[in-house]
Parts: sequence; C-alpha cells; structure tokens
Amino acid sequence: MPLDAAVEIAPGVQMPLLGFGTWQIRGATAAKAVADALALGYRHVDTAQMYGNESQVGRALAESGLGRDEVFVTTKLWPDRAGRERETLEESLEALGLDAVDLWLIHWPVNGGAAPHVWEHFIEARRDGLARAVGVSNYEVAQLDELARSTGCMPAVNQIEWGPAMYDASLAAAHRERGVQLEGYSPLRTTNLRDRRLGRIASAHGVTPAQVVIRWHLEHRFVVIPKSSHRERIAENADVLGFELTADELAELDALGSGARRD
Ligand SMILES: NC(=O)c1ccc[n+]([C@@H]2O[C@H](COP(=O)([O-])OP(=O)(O)OC[C@H]3O[C@@H](n4cnc5c(N)ncnc54)[C@H](OP(=O)(O)O)[C@@H]3O)[C@@H](O)[C@H]2O)c1
Repeated sequence: MPLDAAVEIAPGVQMPLLGFGTWQIRGATAAKAVADALALGYRHVDTAQMYGNESQVGRALAESGLGRDEVFVTTKLWPDRAGRERETLEESLEALGLDAVDLWLIHWPVNGGAAPHVWEHFIEARRDGLARAVGVSNYEVAQLDELARSTGCMPAVNQIEWGPAMYDASLAAAHRERGVQLEGYSPLRTTNLRDRRLGRIASAHGVTPAQVVIRWHLEHRFVVIPKSSHRERIAENADVLGFELTADELAELDALGSGARRD
C-alpha cells in the first residue's frame, strides 16, 4: 500500500487514506509542520477556517513545489458561518491560495441539526467547481440521511472522532452502506497508547503503538489524519507501510472499542 493509497469519494476524486491534521497548530509552527509533512510524503492536509492556519497551510503548499493535483486539501465551514457559506469558502480559498479545495465539510451540525439549507450551498459550490467533493463532520447517521432526503445528495465523507478505542462496527457499516467515506479524527488522542494489548502488537512488529493505530485505520480503509508538530513524529506516523496487521490483531484492536457509543 503506497503512502498515497486512496479511496474514490466522488467520481474521479481520489482521497488519500493518510492525511495530516492541523488543529491547534498556528503561525510558523503550522507552516513548518505542513512543510515537513509534505516533504515526508503526506499528500493530504486537513484544515478548517476555525483552525486559523489556512494561510500557513497555503504557504507550505505553495513552497512545497508539488503540483496542485498532487495534494488533497480539505477545509471546513464553522457552523456560525451558516448564511455566509459562499463568502466563507471564498475566504478559505484566498487564504489557501487555491482555486478550489478537494473537500469542503460542514464542520459541525448547525445548532445541532443537519441543516439542509447549508448543505444546498455546498452542493452549489461543488457544481461551480470551488470544491471537488463536499461532505460533513460530526454528523449522526440520521443526519446524513436527512441531507440525502432533503437534497438528493448524500455527503461524500463524514469526518468523526474515531480510532480503535471508539470502533463501532455497525456505525462503520452504516457509512459503508450509504457510500459515505468514514474519515476518523483524533486517532491518537482517543487511544490509550500505553494499552498493554496495543503495546504487545506494536512490539510484535517492531513499531510504535501510534503506528499500529494508524495502520489499523488504513487496513479498515478509514481515512486517518494524525497531527503532530514534531518532525520525528510526523515521520513516524507516516512510516506505516512496512508491516501488516494480522486478522487476529485487527480483531483484538477492534475489541478496544465499546461498540455501543453511537447509533
Ligand atoms: N472535525 C472535527 O471536529 C475535528 C476535531 C478534532 C480534530 N480534527 C482533525 O483531526 C486531526 C487529528 O486529531 P487531533 O489533532 O485532535 O489528535 P491526534 O492526531 O489524534 O493526536 C495529536 C496528539 O498526539 C500527539 N502525537 C502525534 N504523533 C504522536 C506519536 N507518534 N506518538 C505519540 N504522540 C503523538 C501530538 O503531539 P505533538 O504535536 O506534540 O507531537 C498531539 O498531542 C486534527 O489535527 C484535525 O485536523 C477534526
């Protein structure tokens, strides 16, 4: 599996399974971390207008020497910008220095609801070529269905908090059945990296617990976007191609999840 192994989330739109998360890094730290990630082989960057680092992400992209079609870029609309969707996307594009993003997400349900009126603007932005694909984040399955019912358009992606400790086979299946790509966030923060079972699996492969967690996502074909501001860890989190988890190990990791958290 190459580092840019991807899933097709919309016709002709390939989303690399491994991306680089950028929440809580700003200013020069953000520009350096994204530059390091791109130099180390990441080809997918996750940002959001709310992170306050889109211009640093844009600078790192511009200085990377990579072609626009070589890096997948996601940004998100914070719910308090509902009603100003197009203006917000244009601000994001300007900060990123891009003509279009690969994926634009509604960051959270708006006032707790699915917000089909906001979603209509996302569909328009895709139609107008400002976003190659559109999706949501932190949505429940019933809210995905509400968007599809109201607009005839199912989100391509749902970015949710996810990791072995949050694994829920029925929730993963609900996304699969709807053709919605599950993108996991906070893979490391939601995992106890000192867990004994995780440690044993990591030792068996001569890798770190964090690498096992990231590999677990790739083998399930969940998109994963670990964040680090340290070059060594950025490298470590991408160095996950030299080993494979066995079926028993995958099952053991799956069992770290409660399985009952979501509907
Ligand atoms: N849609 C949403 O609502 C939402 C919410 C949260 C996050 N996200 C996205 O998901 C991305 C990832 O989630 P996250 O940033 O919350 O958490 P994460 O990637 O699971 O974990 C980041 C934390 O783990 C540490 N870390 C990184 N690599 C490590 C390693 N190899 N070993 C041990 N510790 C390591 C980092 O420290 P150092 O930086 O000090 O290395 C940082 O404290 C975010 O950056 C953001 O892009 C989206």
